[in-house]
Amino acid sequence: MVPSYILGIETSCDETAAAVVRRNADGSGEIVSNIVLSQIADHAPYGGVVPEIAARAHIRHLDRLVSEAMGQAELTYPQLDGVAATAGPGLLGGVIIGLTTAKAIAMAHAKPLLAVNHLEGHALTARLLGPCPFPYLLLLISGGHTQFQLVEGVGRYRRLGTTIDDALGEAFDKTAKLLGLGYPGGPQVEAHARKGKPDRFDFPRPLKGRKDCNFSFSGLKTAVREVVGELGRLNEQDIADVCASFEAAVAETLQDRLKMAFEAFRGSYSGVEEPTLIVAGGVATNATLKAMFATSAKAHGFGLIVPPANLCTDNAAMIAWAGAERLALGMVDNLDAMARARWPLDEVSAPVYGSGKLGVKV
Ligand code: KG4
Ligand code: ZN
Repeated sequence: MVPSYILGIETSCDETAAAVVRRNADGSGEIVSNIVLSQIADHAPYGGVVPEIAARAHIRHLDRLVSEAMGQAELTYPQLDGVAATAGPGLLGGVIIGLTTAKAIAMAHAKPLLAVNHLEGHALTARLLGPCPFPYLLLLISGGHTQFQLVEGVGRYRRLGTTIDDALGEAFDKTAKLLGLGYPGGPQVEAHARKGKPDRFDFPRPLKGRKDCNFSFSGLKTAVREVVGELGRLNEQDIADVCASFEAAVAETLQDRLKMAFEAFRGSYSGVEEPTLIVAGGVATNATLKAMFATSAKAHGFGLIVPPANLCTDNAAMIAWAGAERLALGMVDNLDAMARARWPLDEVSAPVYGSGKLGVKV
């Protein structure tokens, strides 16, 4: 089984994706094929992801994308070593479609099934790109999650902090919506912010100075709503200034939260001489934030890895890779593996509102 070839499937939100990765004997990885079909155009008229539309689109496209990923990899199903799919957390309809497809392929070809936590996909992507020994500090900032994790190994996570209300990507999306910009909002806010004045509006820096590693973004969103309401009719410069001021508030907040997380990491692993910060999730593609991560990591003696944009946003290569890492450790799943709408990476830490741990397990 060395090297191993893993097919990955991702359907937990509004991207339908299939990929094949190779894991070599030395633990290094390679993307053999990586196909992502974005459903943005299907959801844009509604200003956000509509679960029913997403599920139907996954059904319509997934089989074809899996065939294409296998075709580009020049592999047949018997040549695979395992089949991985996101089993949660995410929109349940979509997760069921991807996981069921993976189960069918695994069963038909007698291959191991890897039921992957989507967040673990984001968490392990850096190891697909190059050497990245455990433990490391992960900042995951996406549309559904905002959290710090201590990554100790495959399947071994300790949550340092999480949002107590909105996810950061959600705050970007809501800000964009308030300004009448399109969906998804993050890239729009970033584009407008480039022409704006970051000091025109003094937005709050939520939880700044607090001695923990949690986040909060709902107050920031409310502050944006109030400013937009006061401005009334917005001109281009107003929009740019709100975006730039919002980004500045987010950057300063994250910088403050990172300081706490760096300290917490050192407190837990004083023996790690060259600690690394990994930033993952769609918001990690933001250039202003990326510049701040670089400055901040350097100031605290941490290395920094931010995967390229196409591997920060949702994709199936990260799911295939998490599957490959699990397979190498014998962490294989049964064909009755559940699809889960909620599934925290760290099942041990105490629940916090907004952390994805207080919902019903499906
Ligand atoms: O990781 P991702 O692709 O999907 C989830 O698992 O949620 O993240 C999507 C989120 C959206 O909220 C989107 O607005 C945000 O990432 N995003 C950005 C940027 N590009 C995407 N936020 C800020 N700046 C960006 N350039
Ligand atoms: Zn994601």
